[in-house]
Amino acid sequence: MDKLKGRDLLSLANLNSEELKEILQLAAQLKSGEINLKCNKVLGLLFSKASTRTRVSFTVAMYQLGGQVIDLNPNVTQVSRGESLEDTARVLDGYLDILAIRTFEQKDLESFANYAKIPVINALTDREHPCQILADLLTVQENFGKLDGITLSYFGDGNNVANSLLLGCAMVGINVRIATPENYLPNKEIVEQAKTIANGKSEVLVTQDPQVAVKDSQVLYTDVWASMGQEQEANNRIPIFQPYQVNEKLVESAADDVIILHCLPAHRDEEITDAVIEGKKSLVWEQAENRMHAQKALLISILGSD
Ligand code: CP
Ligand code: NVA
Repeated sequence: MDKLKGRDLLSLANLNSEELKEILQLAAQLKSGEINLKCNKVLGLLFSKASTRTRVSFTVAMYQLGGQVIDLNPNVTQVSRGESLEDTARVLDGYLDILAIRTFEQKDLESFANYAKIPVINALTDREHPCQILADLLTVQENFGKLDGITLSYFGDGNNVANSLLLGCAMVGINVRIATPENYLPNKEIVEQAKTIANGKSEVLVTQDPQVAVKDSQVLYTDVWASMGQEQEANNRIPIFQPYQVNEKLVESAADDVIILHCLPAHRDEEITDAVIEGKKSLVWEQAENRMHAQKALLISILGSD
């Protein structure tokens, strides 16, 4: 249960395939009620960007485990008045058992984790969103009864979600295809990392052609075209990303048993049409709920149970 005891999760690549699969298995067992664990610890949430799902799912997960949560919104801490990350990290270290951070730069997260001795979880950076992918993989596993050999295609911006999907899918044997406009590719280093992890046993494909990505695909996934911090580019991006919209026509070209995922929040009729997100193949609400089950398993794996 505590195989990751004391470890940080700054990138999905901090886990090996076995560890990732064990978190998913534990998440399924916690969700079904097959096992019931307690963990009376204190989680801090230090979020410099907005959040509904991550904030609430971590909070409820910790409450259900018998632990507590402190929401450290930078505006109500000294962080917004310029206290350095390094000093903040060393102070919080003395109070909390674990800290989840949502910020912009991956290097800020890493520097925080270097100064804090307690485990630090990436609750989203510009580079990665590992907690999201735990829930996504749990949703795929629940629907198909397996992960290995499934084909997942992501359409849109090569952002944090795309990067973490590349790593997560490669680790569990999912064929992963990322379709983006040419100037919005996923992180090159992560693409190479994913290829190394897949080791030729599953597909890792980056393409500009949505038709290539969608063929026989069983999971169509999309995210906003402009992420948090990129709002000023949103309007300019619309025509560039339009060919990557997940709409009914694209869904028709996928496998018959296709499911639709979106990390949310969604911009309806931009990256995904209203008909698709509300359609029978959409599992976005199950996916959102799974954030809580997956993170509960992650917390137990890092903190151990009472
Ligand atoms: N998917 C996700 O991380 O949602 P929030 O930004 O609401 O946390
Ligand atoms: N790519 C999005 C994900 C939101 C959950 C963002 O970073 O804003």
